[in-house]
Amino acid sequence: MKVLLVGSGGREHALAWKLRQSPKLTQLYAAPGNPGIGELARLVPLKAADVDGLVAFAEREAMDLVIVGPEAPLALGLADRLEERDIPCFGPKTKGALLESSKKFAKDFMARHGIPTAAYCAFTSEDEARRYVKSLPEGPLVVKADGLAQGKGVIVAESRREALDALKEVMSGRFGDAGRQVVVEERMTGEEVSLLTFSDGKTLLPMLPVQDHKRVGEGDTGPNTGGMGAYAPVPAFTPALVEEMESKILRPLCDALRREDLDYQGCLYIGLMLTPEGLKVVEFNARFGDPETQALMPLLKTDLLDLTCACARGSLVNLPGRVLEWRDEKAVCVVMASEGYPGDYPIGRIICLDAGMPFQNSWVFHAGTARNEQGELVTAGGRVLSVAARGATLDEALTRAYTRAENIRFEGCSFRRDIARSKSHVF
Ligand code: AMP
Ligand code: GLY
Repeated sequence: MKVLLVGSGGREHALAWKLRQSPKLTQLYAAPGNPGIGELARLVPLKAADVDGLVAFAEREAMDLVIVGPEAPLALGLADRLEERDIPCFGPKTKGALLESSKKFAKDFMARHGIPTAAYCAFTSEDEARRYVKSLPEGPLVVKADGLAQGKGVIVAESRREALDALKEVMSGRFGDAGRQVVVEERMTGEEVSLLTFSDGKTLLPMLPVQDHKRVGEGDTGPNTGGMGAYAPVPAFTPALVEEMESKILRPLCDALRREDLDYQGCLYIGLMLTPEGLKVVEFNARFGDPETQALMPLLKTDLLDLTCACARGSLVNLPGRVLEWRDEKAVCVVMASEGYPGDYPIGRIICLDAGMPFQNSWVFHAGTARNEQGELVTAGGRVLSVAARGATLDEALTRAYTRAENIRFEGCSFRRDIARSKSHVF
């Protein structure tokens, strides 16, 4: 099979690595990819948001499957356009992608189908939103830009004053169209777990629960980032919680997707919070999580090409046993970032990888990397590399990942040393 993978991050590198293990794969292309992915796939110089270019390429080169990593091309209609040309796509069409690209759509969808989530109200008028916030008792609130805002459109406000400031910020145009509508939510408390699922439009197959570390600093301090590390499975996600997740979230969600005919074919990422009242949905993403994927792929035994194809063709029901197979091991991922991230950061710093060193069961997935004019590997983003490792125990996986990370150098490199160990991650 000829497959085109869209995207250029650590998530896509991990997907490419796993896809390459499929005996059915004949050719793998990646657009635009990165130097790490370039070792596994033929790179196509098309940006992920270049929907016209991607559709034309997939048609000209007769792709059997397109797998979409990031959300932007999905919201722009890449899957819809591929369907018009009968090219199977792993990634939902715009209607399904609304679960990520419109917070209001996602909240209304959950409300219609009784899926537990925080209470909310949506506004297009700043005045009305302000009046609503002022009418609430003093206390924390969450203010969210409705549209895609590169992970920056959510403000957890500690007080009414902060919520009013957040409304001004979101609706003042800082987020462009994404901030034209705003969702004001009750603030929930509790641990967060990511549950990624494979969906073919009719069936939802959950992957292992995985937890990411969103804050930049150790002990879960400092500003939010795209994710500084992840580990799977999450030991504290007990069988009782799995049962609750099945009955209260997955079953109603699967019915809802069918009833609303979202024809959702791809990865549906469910951000969960374990609140004192039970599990609730924080958010949906229309794609694999990053860095969750880098921790999940080393544990997945089932052929990823079979899975993504089955989703794109609506035939997950034919998967043997209808279950995913996982290694009975633990995996972690440590993100190595540029100094200054998630704020401004320098690029172009030379990266010395640990080439030639004998590391077992660990992988360096590239994210913000590039080649300079001399062909040297340099930093090109905030999150530069993801070092993933697998082991019989979490400790073994952590030792492998950190030993590897310590052997990689670039000026200003930083990473959290408490992945899977920060206190708040004990439920
Ligand atoms: P989102 O983009 O909706 O996932 O929000 C980003 C992060 O903001 C989440 O991972 C949570 O940590 C936090 N968050 C979002 N909504 C809420 C909420 N209603 N209560 C508490 N925290 C929230
Ligand atoms: N790690 C969170 C996300 O991918 O959105």
